[in-house]
Amino acid sequence: MRLYVNIDHVATLREARRTDEPDPVRAAEAAERGGADGITCHLREDRRHIQDADVRALKASIRTVLNLELAQHPEIVRLACRVRPFQATLVPERRREITTEGGLAVRRTDRRLGDTIRRLSDAGLRVSLFIGPDLKTIDAAAAIGVPAIELHTGRYAHTWRKSGRALDELRRAAAHARSAGLAVHAGHGLTYQNVQPVAATPEIEELNIGHSIVSNAVFWGIEEAVRRMRKLVDDARGV
Ligand code: PXP
Repeated sequence: MRLYVNIDHVATLREARRTDEPDPVRAAEAAERGGADGITCHLREDRRHIQDADVRALKASIRTVLNLELAQHPEIVRLACRVRPFQATLVPERRREITTEGGLAVRRTDRRLGDTIRRLSDAGLRVSLFIGPDLKTIDAAAAIGVPAIELHTGRYAHTWRKSGRALDELRRAAAHARSAGLAVHAGHGLTYQNVQPVAATPEIEELNIGHSIVSNAVFWGIEEAVRRMRKLVDDARGV
């Protein structure tokens, strides 16, 4: 299972003072030393954390691969096509949200989404759609022609202590997506406490984890925070 580390909140801390530290590139390098298979960042339209220059610097300096999360803003899609990260994960974006709150609404007849996917794919990027664990949305994603989806684990993250329903839903969705030929990624709200049941789901091949790793990096350092998450994921997977 691949562990991609989202370093957005390193940039959040920097932007709190509009200064030049902490540097997301250094954080990415430390995450790689701790065992990250890839680095994820989200260039939001409001540029609240990651900036355009960060995306270029990350692409130029990391040793693993870059997964750029982006919404369908023409200017950001153009930047993605120019910088050419390994992977582009399309997400919905609302200005006032604190974080990405839901998955993309996907309809196979959505021409705007189809055009965005085509432009990114033509530039050589692997395209993934961030969607809820909903079977109809998965079918639409398969029909629109992407190689991968990322399942939104937010509901699981909010309810796992009380009920196993969201995990069942996630597992059903992962199996359904896999049988439709999609590569299955997952992320959002995963922590040291709740990651293992998701990591143990065999159809899920990639996790994207940010906030919990960066939060614990305050105490352990980012390399160690990634190393501990890596171990939990590998143990759950029986590695
Ligand atoms: N995956 C996607 C598509 C996201 O938008 C986010 C949040 O930026 C994450 C994963 C990571 O979520 P978290 O920061 O809660 O680990």
